[in-house]
Amino acid sequence: MAEIVLGVGGGIAAYKVAELLRRLTESGHGVTVVPTRSALRFVGEPTWAALSGRPVRTEVFEDVHEVPHVRIGRHADLVVVAPATADLMAKAAAGLADDLLTSTLLTARGPVVFVPAMHTEMWEHPATVANVETLRRRGALVVEPAVGRLTGADTGKGRLPEPADIFAYVSDVLTRGAAGPGGGPDTGPDAGPDLAGRHVVVSAGGTREHLDPVRFLGNRSSGRQGYALARAAAARGARVTLVAANVALPDPAGVDLVRVGSAAQLYDAMVEAAAGADAVVMAAAVADFRPATYADSKIKKTDDGSSPVIELERTTDILAYLAAHRPDPKQVVVGFAAETGDASGSVLDHGRAKLASKGCDLLVVNEVGADRGFESEDNAAVVLGADGSSVTVESGPKSALAHVVWDLVRARL
Ligand code: CTP
Repeated sequence: MAEIVLGVGGGIAAYKVAELLRRLTESGHGVTVVPTRSALRFVGEPTWAALSGRPVRTEVFEDVHEVPHVRIGRHADLVVVAPATADLMAKAAAGLADDLLTSTLLTARGPVVFVPAMHTEMWEHPATVANVETLRRRGALVVEPAVGRLTGADTGKGRLPEPADIFAYVSDVLTRGAAGPGGGPDTGPDAGPDLAGRHVVVSAGGTREHLDPVRFLGNRSSGRQGYALARAAAARGARVTLVAANVALPDPAGVDLVRVGSAAQLYDAMVEAAAGADAVVMAAAVADFRPATYADSKIKKTDDGSSPVIELERTTDILAYLAAHRPDPKQVVVGFAAETGDASGSVLDHGRAKLASKGCDLLVVNEVGADRGFESEDNAAVVLGADGSSVTVESGPKSALAHVVWDLVRARL
């Protein structure tokens, strides 16, 4: 369990952060809340003290003998600032230290996550843009705000992501920082945001190929592995575009989400998103065939008792297309393969053959069966490389597999 500093900025979204605090403490983390003076105008000290079970200070002049800003910063495994206001990020970027939170930010040695919330105009102002860039360049993680209803009647980019989504993001940063699931050279407590400045595209979920307005051919993919990949990349500092086909999971914080339905829509969205990307991961389960014709109205039973024959046609193999049409030869392309062994070969034989035929750099091979892969929380896989390498990932959370994939992608960037 980690020691976390929760810095709270002076914005109305502070009320949502009380829920984040609750989630952090309930999962066993020790949390010291450090609000700014103006944060306390939105949510008072008793709320933070009661939910964290710890005293709450705002100023460096309280309990001076303990030198609190140094002690708190040094002992934190992670600092999360939410809501991070434009003012607070400006101070952090400039290195100002006029209260306990800004001082703590200068003594913190672990990862620092800013979760901004402000009006769209403030987020897009060149001053804020420059400050965010400065913070990111120094290794801080600045989560992209969500799009939606803002404080007044207006909507736009600048909304604080939902507490559950921030919690998932923070958990991912901690997983990577503390456990180093990939076991590679860049993991461990000092693992920084090693995908900062990179743009990655991930597809997730399963496509639906409609026969008529109410029926479709689909598959069982839940989107969990793709979402775990998107969250893990965001936690490592990447700009992430997540193309989701029919996924009913909470939106990951800090990720650009594009929703699609069919294989054809997924193809369009992936080709567009991949244009400037450093890496593309096809975790979606894409239909290989779609009905050759679409009935504009619902297909009815006929009186003669006959059954319709549905003619199918092939869809484009998106992964193979992306691998063959890279905008930049250095782009890393990753595919997934759900395989079962059969008389013609083992799971890995099929995986090797698929890696070659798709032309991708890495292929994550899952053995699927009645109780593994789809819909489950865990995943086990072998990641095959076009260079002949092979990395086995034992059964574990999908986030752990996600970090191994990014370790391998990063090594190829
Ligand atoms: N894929 C794709 N476009 C398709 C089908 C699959 O991009 N039309 C991608 C999937 O996202 C996945 C990889 O290809 O990353 C492997 O998919 P899989 O269904 O295992 O492979 P298939 O080509 O369908 O092979 P098989 O004949 O074994 O089903």
